Amino acid sequence: VVAHFQPKVLLGEHVVVTAGPTFEAMDPIRGITNHSSGKMGFAIARAAREAGARVTLVAGPVHLPTPRGVQRVDVASAQQMLQAVQAAVADASVFVATAAVADWRPADPQMHKIKKDGSGQTPVLRFVENPDILHTVAQGERARGRQLFCVGFAAESENLLEHAKAKRLRKGIPLLVGNIGPLTFGQDDNSLLLVDEHGARELPRASKLALARELASEIAVRLRPWRG
Ligand code: CTP
Ligand code: CA
Repeated sequence: VVAHFQPKVLLGEHVVVTAGPTFEAMDPIRGITNHSSGKMGFAIARAAREAGARVTLVAGPVHLPTPRGVQRVDVASAQQMLQAVQAAVADASVFVATAAVADWRPADPQMHKIKKDGSGQTPVLRFVENPDILHTVAQGERARGRQLFCVGFAAESENLLEHAKAKRLRKGIPLLVGNIGPLTFGQDDNSLLLVDEHGARELPRASKLALARELASEIAVRLRPWRG
């Protein structure tokens, strides 16, 4: 049941959310990924839907149920995620990037399984940098003269506030959300640091769903002034 007590603060908005890790193949059966659980992104998709938005959730490989009323697109690699996001944001008004996108992918993924050759020699993997989905989408939509309110997430192991401020400016986005350490992969609760042009504010430890609902209203109150 869509919680009817949630105020419909995002009614009329189309919110695109990325969630989970990406998977970067090195051959047909192996690849590089990370421990992102996808829980925060799925909670945000659910909260945005409860707040009345149409929601598209672009998910990397995770085992989580799709929130009710949310349109889900499953992808594996960062390149696939970028394509799916670019298709989805065409008519979107908000983009929330929670995915833990692999920063690098194997430079030449093999068509066939890489075999041991019996000599004891180990393969050497070369990497190339993946596209920055958030930065690419934020820039691209701005260049098209479209108003897409972009929200980034950052998990840092040190100096969260400084890194979050710098990351917000580097990505060219109005709102960046920091995960307040320790790194909370897979856990059901979290605490967040909201960084915008005015400064930083903490959302104290709570369930990811409760935080997602708070974040949905934080986004909603910023939309009108940001649009000008
Ligand atoms: N992000 C993205 N595409 C990438 C890398 C990151 O869309 N290729 C998004 C993430 O979803 C997140 C934000 O950018 O919302 C910050 O991700 P993070 O990994 O913290 O930042 P990076 O720019 O990759 O910098 P670094 O990992 O070196 O700190
Ligand atoms: Ca990164």
